[in-house]
Amino acid sequence: MNQLVIVLDFGGQYKELIARRVRECGVSSVIWPGDTDVDQIRRANPIGVILTGGPDSVYAPDAPRCGDGLFTLGIPVLGICYGLHLTAYALGGEVAPCATREYGRTDMTLDASCPLFEGLDVRQTGLMSHTDQITRLPDGFVSAGSTGNCRNAAIMDRVRAIYGVQFHPEVENTPNGTAMIRNFLYSVCGAAGDYDIGDYEARAVNEIRAQVGDERVLLGLSGGVDSSVCAALLAKAIPGRVYCIFVDHGFMRKGEGDEIGAAFPWRRKLRLIRVNAGVRFLELLKGVEDPEMKRKIIGAEFVRVFEGEAKRLGDIKFLAQGTIYPDVVESGANKSATIKSHHNVGGLPDSMAFKELVEPLRGLFKDEVRMLGRRLGLPKALAERQPFPGPGLAVRIIGEVTAEKLDILREADAIFREEIKQMRDRPDQYFAVLTDTRSVGVMGDFRTYGYTIALRAVRTTDFMTCEYAHIPHRMLKHTVSRIVGEVPGVTRVVYDITGKPPATIEWE
Ligand code: XMP
Repeated sequence: MNQLVIVLDFGGQYKELIARRVRECGVSSVIWPGDTDVDQIRRANPIGVILTGGPDSVYAPDAPRCGDGLFTLGIPVLGICYGLHLTAYALGGEVAPCATREYGRTDMTLDASCPLFEGLDVRQTGLMSHTDQITRLPDGFVSAGSTGNCRNAAIMDRVRAIYGVQFHPEVENTPNGTAMIRNFLYSVCGAAGDYDIGDYEARAVNEIRAQVGDERVLLGLSGGVDSSVCAALLAKAIPGRVYCIFVDHGFMRKGEGDEIGAAFPWRRKLRLIRVNAGVRFLELLKGVEDPEMKRKIIGAEFVRVFEGEAKRLGDIKFLAQGTIYPDVVESGANKSATIKSHHNVGGLPDSMAFKELVEPLRGLFKDEVRMLGRRLGLPKALAERQPFPGPGLAVRIIGEVTAEKLDILREADAIFREEIKQMRDRPDQYFAVLTDTRSVGVMGDFRTYGYTIALRAVRTTDFMTCEYAHIPHRMLKHTVSRIVGEVPGVTRVVYDITGKPPATIEWE
């Protein structure tokens, strides 16, 4: 068993980041609800507990609280933002609204003797985002840092090993934040650094074998990172008994359908079944213009194809899914698994009689899934694959989807991707959209009337918000000349520079 840190969630937007940072520092972590019973925490025997931030004011009557007795367990605690307020409040201190709120990167002066700040300069920058602050420290505590507006930017009680920070050490805007978390883990909690992705792999392989026994497993392979890594892990654990169904709906990008099948180095250990259903899907989308309608039709048909294949394969009791830790946390940590929407295009119906789910990536964050993929030898093209909507190019063609439009978009998109590949610092997501606007052009002596392609390239870390990517104009110009020159039917290309919000990343 690895040493464990429990992150108690009080509704802060950075809870996953905290848990990831802990893992990056070589310590296993889980996220549990803030009010988890203290007995349950004791039984898990963590080396430390971290309390997240949250949107509430701790003095409000319905503010979230931690379980009684958390601070007398003798386990080191680090409270962050709301977690700091909760610590102070629970131990008899006072929290009140700030006279001056602090938002954004803020200069701080820290106490070098505080174990959290070991090895760091006393002058640091931290991301602040708070409207309350500690106005009176609980007994036993001293301030360990301050800003111009906040006397208690960090607090400590060395005897009980309880610490708190007003700023967010987990975000990049606190440049030495990870070092502070590492100090908490190693200097305060006595971490041994016994967690790495290799342990996870070994444990997951054993667990798959124990769960599945001699049975066969069915996996829906979308070509996305999660399902690909899941397939790789299953191939290692139970070679020859994994049936991967890849439903090619005909809306993949250029070459992708072939890549997904061919690129798998574990092909011999997996039974890959590719169902080419492009004609069927296109027929169903005839005359359909509404994006939601397109998604629904594709989702429903996807399930039908999948179901048909599953039936053909006979009595397979186990269904594997590439569920990852954020899915588990979002659906309520520790709750039992439910079948999530498959391939992101639609849920599998209840009528599919699987005995059990196999979810070997349930404990991993996205970047850890990629790391595991690299360990398992996942081809680069798959490991670095950008997010791609389940309904594929069908939602990147505005209006009705036709074979002709699919061909145009595939070519234009392939050119854009080829060009972007030459950038050293590539955008996080980039693709082409075929708009429903036609416009007049001139080629040689001929007047043309063709489609408008929109190029989209964004910078983002979480895909919840984004900014457009600043692609060099020379590169844009070259891309545009290539698209209009090489793709018949396109007369005009535009570059979308809208951020999210207000726009979404995809056009439909
Ligand atoms: P939006 O367009 O909502 O997209 O800003 C956010 C991110 O999600 C991706 N996306 C999808 N991913 N199934 C997926 O797996 C979908 O149906 C889907 N729709 C959008 C999108 O590419 C972006 O990265």
